[in-house]
Amino acid sequence: AEPAVQPENDKTVTLAPHTEIASDQLMTTNTGTRINDDQNSLKAGDRGPSLLEDFIFREKMTHFDHERIPERVVHARGSGAHGIFKVYEPMASLTKAGFLNDTEIETPVFVRFSTVAGSRGSSDLARDARGFAVKFYTQEGNFDLVGNNIPVFFIQDAIKFPDLIHAVKPEPDSEMPQAASAHDTFWDFISLMPESAHMIMWVMSDRALPRSYRMMEGFGVHTFRFINEEGVSSFVKFHWKPLLGVHSVAWDEAQNISGKDPDFHRRDLWDAIESGNFPEWELGVQIIPEEDEFKFEFDLLDSTKLIPEELVPVQRIGKLTLNRNPDNFHAETEQVAFHLGHVVPGIDFTNDPLLQGRLFSYTDTQLLRLGGPNFQEIPINRPIVSVHNNQRDGHMRQTINKGKVSYSPNSLGGGSPAQAKASEGGFTSYAERIDAGKVRARSKSFFDHFSQARLFFNSQSDPEKNHIVDALSFELGKVKTVAIRERMLGILSLIDKGLAAEVAFALRISVPQDPALPVNHSIPADGDPADYDSVM
Ligand code: HEM
Repeated sequence: AEPAVQPENDKTVTLAPHTEIASDQLMTTNTGTRINDDQNSLKAGDRGPSLLEDFIFREKMTHFDHERIPERVVHARGSGAHGIFKVYEPMASLTKAGFLNDTEIETPVFVRFSTVAGSRGSSDLARDARGFAVKFYTQEGNFDLVGNNIPVFFIQDAIKFPDLIHAVKPEPDSEMPQAASAHDTFWDFISLMPESAHMIMWVMSDRALPRSYRMMEGFGVHTFRFINEEGVSSFVKFHWKPLLGVHSVAWDEAQNISGKDPDFHRRDLWDAIESGNFPEWELGVQIIPEEDEFKFEFDLLDSTKLIPEELVPVQRIGKLTLNRNPDNFHAETEQVAFHLGHVVPGIDFTNDPLLQGRLFSYTDTQLLRLGGPNFQEIPINRPIVSVHNNQRDGHMRQTINKGKVSYSPNSLGGGSPAQAKASEGGFTSYAERIDAGKVRARSKSFFDHFSQARLFFNSQSDPEKNHIVDALSFELGKVKTVAIRERMLGILSLIDKGLAAEVAFALRISVPQDPALPVNHSIPADGDPADYDSVM
């Protein structure tokens, strides 16, 4: 069949001047000099040594030698696509964000799906969470919704993230196993980290083995804020609901597919778009009025908790359609830089300590991964609106800023932009009142680690529960250190005694009767473990 037409949008049009197809052209060097032999190096005589003079050889080889950039420190393996987003109804009562208010606007998007733990060449169907990152190129600048396909996370505080990832990644001596959680360091950390109990239930469930990227939900995970024109804020949780429904494969299928086609999800997404079978999701929001902040049994700032849809329904407010494959994997999918700190007026942050830490991490890593401070000038990262500020210079600067003034305040004009007046729009941080001393201790409102893990397990059908038991038995069966297996059974028994018993049976060991509380890094140094005990 003929490939479907790949639609243009305001973003792909801006990419066009940067693209090239050379099939009708004659070959040149990077400095434009025509080449008539790039297959034989210049030598002293036809059997003689190669000559340093050979600029054609040197340039070709040097560029090749420098082709690789560092892969992402997490989410290294991914697949991207272009598309559009349209809101169904103006959301003005909740947010002033322009792209959520004008039902006529088709906001261009670039989406990247990913696994978390594996390296760039690992298999798509590893048991893992999946990234679901969306860059909206809005008329007010880029808004990135950098989410996952699981609504909660392993840890409550960003400062633990390097520990989590060191435990998840292949073990540092042997670099094994690739892209799988079945190993001692991972379960060692998890079994010592009771706050991961809820996420672990999801990761051991069918949700961690999606049938297709087109059949995954997405979640912003953190609680964010919407701000309306009057400056009134509401809390918001973001969701993506796939119109094809949520589907998974079974573990033995996943293992077979991984062996036969490690590109299974990448191929599925590419082929669907190429054949005009455009994947679609609805954007959903759960809205919590500011005054309901303390209405729940859990803390809205705790990313190991979700808000049950029975308590706060998900309203579907718009549709995302992916309708165009990238032209070049490196230029687009690899160089795209997502960051939940890329916000537009009408969307703001909360004090979730995981969210707050992420605000630092993404730009920091991209400065390294994309080679310096000018990575927002890479075509895929540029907003569709123009950029004006006093930032200058640095490696690979593309913009040629004219004028002698690159500072403010100034009285000379020439070259420097003016700041917007409040009446001209612009981003104003929500003026949340903070009245506190500096503390490292975790809030006690973050201490219940097991209720929602249990809620999730109990929400599963019997076959799904069996899959969780099988997954835990398989994964823990690969753990060599018996004490880690036992400690993990202790955690499982705090979630569900039946679940722990079944996994223990499969592992041929017994559930610890009185599970020793793991070293709990959530208890403040001066905290009383008894407080913690009482909330389990
Ligand atoms: C990628 C850090 C938690 C979703 C990344 C990257 C870093 C990072 C450094 C690589 C970015 C790049 O090289 O461009 C962190 C830290 C976290 C955290 C420090 C917690 C403290 C999360 C959570 C989610 C998430 C909770 C989901 C809600 C993603 C996604 C990507 C990513 C989807 C891949 C983006 C892409 O496709 O390029 N993260 N992350 N991360 N992270 Fe996180």
